[in-house]
Amino acid sequence: MHHEFDILTLFPEMVEGFFASSMLGRGQRNGLIDIRTHQLRDWTTDKHNKTDELPYGGGAGMVMKPEPIFAAVEQLRQPASKVVYMAPDGVPLTSQLARELVQEPHFIILSGHYEGVDQRVRDELVDLEVSIGDYVLTNGTLAAAVMIDCVSRFIPGFLGDEKSLTEESFMSTLLGFPQYTRPADFRGLRVPEVLLSGDHAAIAKWRHEQQIEKTRRLRPDLLDK
Ligand code: ADE
Repeated sequence: MHHEFDILTLFPEMVEGFFASSMLGRGQRNGLIDIRTHQLRDWTTDKHNKTDELPYGGGAGMVMKPEPIFAAVEQLRQPASKVVYMAPDGVPLTSQLARELVQEPHFIILSGHYEGVDQRVRDELVDLEVSIGDYVLTNGTLAAAVMIDCVSRFIPGFLGDEKSLTEESFMSTLLGFPQYTRPADFRGLRVPEVLLSGDHAAIAKWRHEQQIEKTRRLRPDLLDK
């Protein structure tokens, strides 16, 4: 299945280099994914290209107007589109959610700015609201890029090496183990002997112990599950 992502943002330049780089760039050249960034201002019709207004009821900050967002989504929408709004008060992005989202062929991703968007956008247009963590970014554009990166890794053939994903299934319960490469002695810092032993059972056991120790230290909440 071909995967398409349309991103609506006031700052497309924040992520255009990101999408052209590394694996996402390769995925697009290979025809597995299409990522298109759009300047939301292009859908304004007033002479000042206004995308925000003062909030009704008062309060600090500005709210994004519904008109350009509705016009953009109505133009970009396809029969099977899912509209996602990136927001700190959305559902948390997890591997589990990304595995579900990769089933969808087309996303329109709305990135908010200021104090967010008019609630009518959320009520009428948006299918899913996603947060990338419990902190607030200055706008949702980086969050949209994070979600696209995370979802794309689950596209069959995207990573080239299917094994990377199988080993990752552990990630839902334990943190990763330490990796080493050559040289075996770097400035007197030696690679753990077991990794040089060629004893695959001993290596697997050592790695598992390292994962448990690190998870206990940094993410004890994962061990409770
Ligand atoms: N926009 C601002 N903060 C965000 C967050 N944590 N996740 C998603 N979108 C956001």
